[in-house]
Amino acid sequence: MTIADTTTVGQIAAESPNATRELEKIGIDYCCGGSRTLGEACAEAKISVDEVLERLQKATAAPKPDADKNWQDQPLADLIAHIQGTHHVFVRGECPRISALAEKVVGVHGKNHPELAEVQAVFSGLAGELSVHLMKEEQVLFPYIVRLEEASVAGEPAPPAMFGTVVNPVRMMMQEHDGAGEALREMREATKNYSLPEDACASYRALYEALQGFEADLHQHIHLENNILFPRAVAAEKRE
Ligand SMILES: [Fe+2]
Ligand SMILES: [Fe+2]
Repeated sequence: MTIADTTTVGQIAAESPNATRELEKIGIDYCCGGSRTLGEACAEAKISVDEVLERLQKATAAPKPDADKNWQDQPLADLIAHIQGTHHVFVRGECPRISALAEKVVGVHGKNHPELAEVQAVFSGLAGELSVHLMKEEQVLFPYIVRLEEASVAGEPAPPAMFGTVVNPVRMMMQEHDGAGEALREMREATKNYSLPEDACASYRALYEALQGFEADLHQHIHLENNILFPRAVAAEKRE
């Protein structure tokens, strides 16, 4: 694809997994902020759009042997299995580990670094919301999307759903994604982009590393849902 400053960030991310990694490095939010054009996103992040275009072109031009699958043309059932097997498993494994780390670091450094208590509170809220969010996806929305795809392949009408059209749960999940994106931003702001103070111990370091890893994974996770899975599910329902 040709990337221009008028291309939306979501389109760029949906077309190329390499582009999502580059956007992550540059600091442009491509999941919840996916509807903005690249020009708008660059203006907001105060970086030169020409420089970003050059970096993206380089990243997307270089074919990497281990490049991720392009989920745009894979079956939705496979994409769902990938999301659950990779990202949902990661969230469930990391939440208790990060909570325990935060507890420890706040106990030792909380007095000198009040932002740690804020991070702990925001993360605990995020972890709680995510646990319910993943359950809703796994028990309601994802199984329905699999049935929707099966019906679409068989040339049958969309199966009946208690929520009416798939647009409704999709909208709800996307609102929850926005909330999660906001929590990630709050933690990044409170920690001044995860910069470690001089007296940081190994646990402090581990906590900040874990939070940044959690952020990168959640961005990729939300991107796959917001920019690929959900639009394709809505299109399958409409038979576009
Ligand atoms: Fe998910
Ligand atoms: Fe989600």
